[in-house]
Amino acid sequence: MRMYDLILKKRNGQVLAEDEIGWMISQYTKGEIPDYQMSAMMMAIYFQGLTKKETIQLTMAMANSGDFLDLSSIPGIKVDKHSTGGVGDKTSLALTPIVAALGVPVAKMSGRGLGHTGGTIDKLESIPGFSTNLSEEDFMKQVKEIGVAIMAQTKDLAPADKKLYALRDVTATVDQMSLIASSIMSKKLAAGADAIVLDVKTGNGAFMKKEEDAKALAKEMIMIGKGAGRNMTAVISNMDEPLGYAIGNALEVKEAIDTLKGHGPQDFKELVYHLAAYMLLAAGKTDTQEDALQKVQKCVKSGKALEKFREFISAQGGNPEVTEDTNLFQQASIVEEVFSKEEGYIAKIDTEGIGICSLMLGGGRETKDSIIDPSVGLILHKKVADFAKKGESLATIYGNDLKKVKQAKEHFYLCYHIEKEKTEKKSMIQNVLFS
Ligand code: URA
Repeated sequence: MRMYDLILKKRNGQVLAEDEIGWMISQYTKGEIPDYQMSAMMMAIYFQGLTKKETIQLTMAMANSGDFLDLSSIPGIKVDKHSTGGVGDKTSLALTPIVAALGVPVAKMSGRGLGHTGGTIDKLESIPGFSTNLSEEDFMKQVKEIGVAIMAQTKDLAPADKKLYALRDVTATVDQMSLIASSIMSKKLAAGADAIVLDVKTGNGAFMKKEEDAKALAKEMIMIGKGAGRNMTAVISNMDEPLGYAIGNALEVKEAIDTLKGHGPQDFKELVYHLAAYMLLAAGKTDTQEDALQKVQKCVKSGKALEKFREFISAQGGNPEVTEDTNLFQQASIVEEVFSKEEGYIAKIDTEGIGICSLMLGGGRETKDSIIDPSVGLILHKKVADFAKKGESLATIYGNDLKKVKQAKEHFYLCYHIEKEKTEKKSMIQNVLFS
């Protein structure tokens, strides 16, 4: 087989065969196909698309390029959750202890953040002592003992996707539906869960800006998961403004703790409770969404979810006392308010821009090797449809470098749009799809 022929075939709009896709992925993973040929293939796919069959075959080839996690020794239906990414998305932190406390085993591999979106692993690592570098053996042992473990994605999980995603990132070929779906699903399938709940974000802070695109992506991922024998659920959720009020690693953990105590922002709580309920349904713990939601509410109210979070922190070497004393987190040395320059309703928030403010403060990675500052970020005080008086604080900025704080503040003002008329707020859960 020659890569040249496969590129030509796809460029001309023909369908690739299963053995051609399998050969291409295995040769690329081994370094036998150069990046320039794979870039040409990605661009051909970008314009010509992939059929359903090709998408499934590409996903399976990438999933099979490395290790498959075997979770079969953990009793019960294992349910994983994946978010397509957004700003202030600390959902996994609050969600996993809730479902684990309700008897759903969570064996989760998560990623780090890059660019304007954060990653669960970085957030967890802002807890003093917390380690996400578990051996596979310790990871499995912990899930069996306490029902939950989260580790950083290993390099052996879908290595073909890791290489391809990095290539797509620099060749303007990320935003192709079938490529995104196969990239996400290859990792999820290799991570071994029986059921997967997807949180597909839509809005100006998401990959998929339009709801119909988010829905199409959700459908594509459900199709792949179903084809691989997984029980699939996709929740389409709003990312037209940051999730909750906190953006930045330690600040987001604190907000998740608040939520596990039954407080926390309304939009975040709504999303966490609904996703947890869908995970309970997928795990066969109940038959109705209403009952599942009640179980989640009770679990939080009883303190069991918070207790599970403390147990989870301890098991991974962290200090569980952070749930009672948030001064134990690394603290930012500069705290500044951003005052509103005008009066009116918040009409629109440039969500990606707010993520960039956190990045500017040092809370995210500009490149793969950037070092993260866990203490910096923002706490918003106003969200879409809220009223702000002139001089009222829109947000508090936490930083450790005056120049960066100034830069973030200037950028923040560009992200908030205030108008005289009140805007309709979008609902958090926009749609739910099942396999
Ligand atoms: N996230 C992924 O893991 N892959 C993509 O292609 C896009 C988002």
